[in-house]
Amino acid sequence: MTSTADPLANVLRTHTDYGAEKLEEADLADDPFAQFAAWLAEAAEREVYEPNAMVLGTIDPDGSPSIRTVLLRGIDDRGFSFYTDYTSRKGRALLANPAVSAVFPWYTLHRQVIVFGEAHQVEAEDSDAYFAARPRGAQVAAWSSNQSQAIASRDALEQKVRDADARFADEPEIARPERWGGFRIAPRRVEFWQGRTSRLHDRLVFIRQPDDGWKVERLQP
Ligand SMILES: Cc1cc2nc3c(=O)[nH]c(=O)nc-3n(C[C@H](O)[C@H](O)[C@H](O)COP(=O)(O)O)c2cc1C
Repeated sequence: MTSTADPLANVLRTHTDYGAEKLEEADLADDPFAQFAAWLAEAAEREVYEPNAMVLGTIDPDGSPSIRTVLLRGIDDRGFSFYTDYTSRKGRALLANPAVSAVFPWYTLHRQVIVFGEAHQVEAEDSDAYFAARPRGAQVAAWSSNQSQAIASRDALEQKVRDADARFADEPEIARPERWGGFRIAPRRVEFWQGRTSRLHDRLVFIRQPDDGWKVERLQP
């Protein structure tokens, strides 16, 4: 099927050199949160599109993996938080099995960060505060969409939105639906990956220790 005229041929064979930068043990912050914050700020400065987007992997109740993109909305010493519908596929998966991993794919920087850990619901007050700060349209959408469930048509979805709009018409503030809120990933490993020449990339992993300190290991690329 592949021919010289195949427009995909170049795409599939491109071999970009990732040699511009390096990551050394001496460059790392003391903990993965500070290191991540520094790299996220740099990704934003260097104009990575949606630098807080991460691809999140969970384990369905039947044991199969599933993935999707979500947006990071908080980072502190407790972990990485994002918001979603607790009754969605990922929500149900995480409530049954908190094991999770996520990758921040910053391709234009030749970097990725991979987080491994457990995700648990954030405190209700945190979800309330985050929901209250969202645009009204997004609040109505959260009420209107039972994320991941099938629906007959786009029209049926838009009807649900009109119904919710009408229901909240007289309410200046829209309360958070109980089935919607945050998860926080408490990491046990965080890998910082920096592309290097000839595929000899730098991979430095923070590994959580029993005393909650961090050990750093270098992995072969
Ligand atoms: C750039 C981007 C950002 C997204 N951010 C979120 C998010 O923060 N929360 C969310 O629930 N879904 C988000 N989505 C949609 C999810 O990828 C996914 O379609 C949805 O959460 C349903 O996933 P599930 O059926 O596996 O639970 C985002 C999608 C993209 C492409």
